[in-house]
Amino acid sequence: MKQTSVIAPSILSADFARLGEETRAVLDAGADWVHFDVMDNHYVPNLTIGPLVCESLRKYGIAAPIDVHLMVKPVDRIIPDFAKAGASLISFHPEASEHIDRTLGLIADQGLQAGLVFNPATPLHWLDHTLHRLDLVLIMSVNPGFGGQSFIPSALDKIRAVRQRIDASGRAVRLEVDGGIKQDNIGAVSAAGADTFVAGSAIFGKPDYRATIAAMRAAL
Ligand code: DX5
Ligand code: ZN
Repeated sequence: MKQTSVIAPSILSADFARLGEETRAVLDAGADWVHFDVMDNHYVPNLTIGPLVCESLRKYGIAAPIDVHLMVKPVDRIIPDFAKAGASLISFHPEASEHIDRTLGLIADQGLQAGLVFNPATPLHWLDHTLHRLDLVLIMSVNPGFGGQSFIPSALDKIRAVRQRIDASGRAVRLEVDGGIKQDNIGAVSAAGADTFVAGSAIFGKPDYRATIAAMRAAL
């Protein structure tokens, strides 16, 4: 069963010089979660933000769930740091972890929710022995590394397949989609079975965050 819809702006597209303000502004404008993209210039060809920035957002007063999307390799070392920094949920890519079950255990030991992320060409068989431990499955609809890329349409079939698996499991697992989500495709992504929507450039690239988020919600 689909859960209530969540809109999670990716702060990758925010003005980093005004990150606290920008994060507060999208939440005040109706966003549900903060999507926090961590890139290491190794697993993906870009370098972004880490636990110190997450902790700063908490100190600034950001209380909404922080959805940490790790695009780093190795994964395990940084998990306790993000737990201390105030992360709510940590997602990682199976290709970036040597021991997926151990990584899932580490996240759970820190009292956080866990997500597994699938790149456009990553097969869903990684769910075979992990779904029972997951709080979220994240389907990438672009190759990870940059904001502002175009949605890859084959993600829709993948979303439908994951929706079936989640429903068959009977567990409350969120199905999140990340990459190229905009007002004009969010409806199709939702119809395919997603309930959690990341959007970076589509929100931060517009002057009126409230109107943009409202239009996205109306399209669901
Ligand atoms: C890409 C990141 C995304 C990115 C999405 O590697 O994981 O979260 O910020 O940005 P848009 O919505 O602009 O595609
Ligand atoms: Zn992301």
